[in-house]
Amino acid sequence: MIKVITYGTYDLLHYGHIRLLERAKALGDYLIVGITSDDFDKSRGKINNQQSLMERIAAVRETGIADEIIVEEYEGQKIDDIKRYGVDIFTVGSDWVGKFDYLNEYCKVVYLERTQGISSSEIRAKQRTLKIFSDNKRGVEKKFVMEADFVNGIEISSDEYDAKYIVSLPKCHYNDIKNELSRCKSVICESPITCSANQTKELFELAKNNKCFLFDGLKTAYSTAFSRMLLLVKSGVIGDIVSVDATCTSMADFNESDDIGNKWNSICAWGPIALLPVFRILGTNYKQKRITTKWIDKKEKFDAFTKIDFIYDNAVASIKVAKKAKSEGELIVTGTKGYIVVPAPWWKTDYFEVRYENPQDNKRYFYQLDGEGIRYEIAAFAKSISAMKNFSNVPIDISIAISKILEDFYNGDIVEIG
Ligand code: CTP
Repeated sequence: MIKVITYGTYDLLHYGHIRLLERAKALGDYLIVGITSDDFDKSRGKINNQQSLMERIAAVRETGIADEIIVEEYEGQKIDDIKRYGVDIFTVGSDWVGKFDYLNEYCKVVYLERTQGISSSEIRAKQRTLKIFSDNKRGVEKKFVMEADFVNGIEISSDEYDAKYIVSLPKCHYNDIKNELSRCKSVICESPITCSANQTKELFELAKNNKCFLFDGLKTAYSTAFSRMLLLVKSGVIGDIVSVDATCTSMADFNESDDIGNKWNSICAWGPIALLPVFRILGTNYKQKRITTKWIDKKEKFDAFTKIDFIYDNAVASIKVAKKAKSEGELIVTGTKGYIVVPAPWWKTDYFEVRYENPQDNKRYFYQLDGEGIRYEIAAFAKSISAMKNFSNVPIDISIAISKILEDFYNGDIVEIG
């Protein structure tokens, strides 16, 4: 019996896939189809899949062509599979010519002509064409535009549009966002949404009433390592949480006046990011907080450095943010059994460690992160709009709690240091 194996994502199964499977089967007597897991796809930069692994498996099974379906979960698995299943022929489409020649050592490798004129990417792009307004300036906005290129079906437009990316000054956000939501345009806005809890609440209400989406642009919320770290914390691997401490600093180049990001003070630029793990892990119901600030320009409310200390019923937290002071940009979550350390720069991390008293118990975790999380954030935004369902990773109560902190800061509820 000749055993054939082939691999693919098979998102939104189309006739190109079916023709490939039929020809693969015809190469032998028994066909094994390896379907990529969602995590494996993400790690190889495929971030646009519309269907889950289970849906993709079901669609391939339904063709009746595959004799066996397996899941491809890790780099190098093909060699393992070929040996394990006693495979005689490995085959894929001609878009991969040359890429799998190294498998010749284990079995015969056949590249089949790819069917012209169809691909999952094209189908996805046709299913949702989302025009996002941006006039592609510099700094953060330029990054956003570049990242949008990785998401199927996104067009960056400078005239007509369905949604808008906003990165104006935080004090302008309320009007800028309201203006768009009122016209039923969805918005993705660099955090903070506004510097007032009530205004932020009002804008989310407006988005809901107008059946559009308001996304709090916190890219860290879309990093796989960050999400997995939160899950580990919640599952109790380090016991009860007693402290969350996050630091984010950068030395701003105030001469680069074209980049709007340079006009953001430390608390607006870094506060929302640093507050994210605090609020995600300990919630937003803190009992007390103290904001301590060192000014660059008190009149303009431009802080060089700000520290916020929180007291919760059973835990404490602190954040340190700065644009004119430098420190180690790490995140540490302290628990009663152990701690988690996310090394600098933790807000764009692909790696963290769980550590215990006995170093032999320590565990390291790595998850691929492309584009600092921005492309995943844009993909979630686009998916929300096309599916009319919210896929945001930032809960609304956290956006409101972040706005409340900024509100208190601007109301002068702070301790000043010289
Ligand atoms: N394939 C094919 N003809 C097409 C599309 C895909 O023969 N028009 C083959 C690929 O070469 C591969 C298998 O089908 O062997 C699964 O491909 P997959 O990457 O899942 O499909 P694509 O449509 O290429 O997906 P994407 O656009 O996301 O890259």
